[in-house]
Amino acid sequence: MLFDLFRKKKKLSPERPVPTHIAIVMDGNGRWAKKRGLPRQAGHKVGAEAFRTIANYAKSIGLKYLTVYAFSTENWKRPEEEVNAIMELLEKYLREAIRDMEKNRVRFCFFGDLSRLSPQLQEEAREAVERSAKYEGVQVNFCLNYGGRAEVVRAAQRFAQACVEGKCKPEELTERMLSDLMYSQNVPDPELVIRPGGELRTSNFLLWQSAYAEYYFTDVLWPEFGPEELEKAIAAYNSRKRRFGGV
Ligand code: IPE
Ligand code: IPE
Ligand code: MG
Repeated sequence: MLFDLFRKKKKLSPERPVPTHIAIVMDGNGRWAKKRGLPRQAGHKVGAEAFRTIANYAKSIGLKYLTVYAFSTENWKRPEEEVNAIMELLEKYLREAIRDMEKNRVRFCFFGDLSRLSPQLQEEAREAVERSAKYEGVQVNFCLNYGGRAEVVRAAQRFAQACVEGKCKPEELTERMLSDLMYSQNVPDPELVIRPGGELRTSNFLLWQSAYAEYYFTDVLWPEFGPEELEKAIAAYNSRKRRFGGV
């Protein structure tokens, strides 16, 4: 309802095609805070709000899958104080976001190795997945302690294990089978990967899945990334010609 009003006010086109799967690197929180003379944590807090708004908006425009990069396998390199603050925020905001999204019937999924997270966060994640499994509409894949390379290694290990157990042979491995061993099992590849925050790199996000994704980069920092920015990215995507190696 709110977003319908937003769309009318901002003259966004409800008729434009929307991709099935959009993935976003939620980057720029620290710089957003620094620009305002605030601690980096303040940026993560507003970033968490931005996520909530975008996830609900995604549902309102009929997106099927939204994958967001929240914490990478490399982000543990940050000062302990920042990592702790992010984890605390995740506990608080994830709980609130899940409650909010339950109202909107958003299905939750997590990509990444959750075993390194606090037992409380692991429990929250498990509960969110379980409680929202029945919802249809949009599925949010929340990437936590996620790394594209770690995901490929994990898939390779799982396949090797199946070979050891005599369930398959190395030469039988196909792209399809490897896809099914990723966290993104059953999720179609993203057509559009968005990176706010001004950096022109993937930072280990969905390496396998984004082989043919269209990228959209913007200098807008994640805490300022709202529905209008998402619409700009979708419009850019709709203006592209995808060839998949053909002519
Ligand atoms: C993204 O924002 C959030 C995480 C990686 C956890 P950053 O914290 O990377 O913000 P910048 O890039 O320093 O501005
Ligand atoms: C990517 O952002 C990870 C997330 C947004 C979760 P980073 O801020 O960690 O990436 P780099 O360090 O600029 O490559
Ligand atoms: Mg960053």
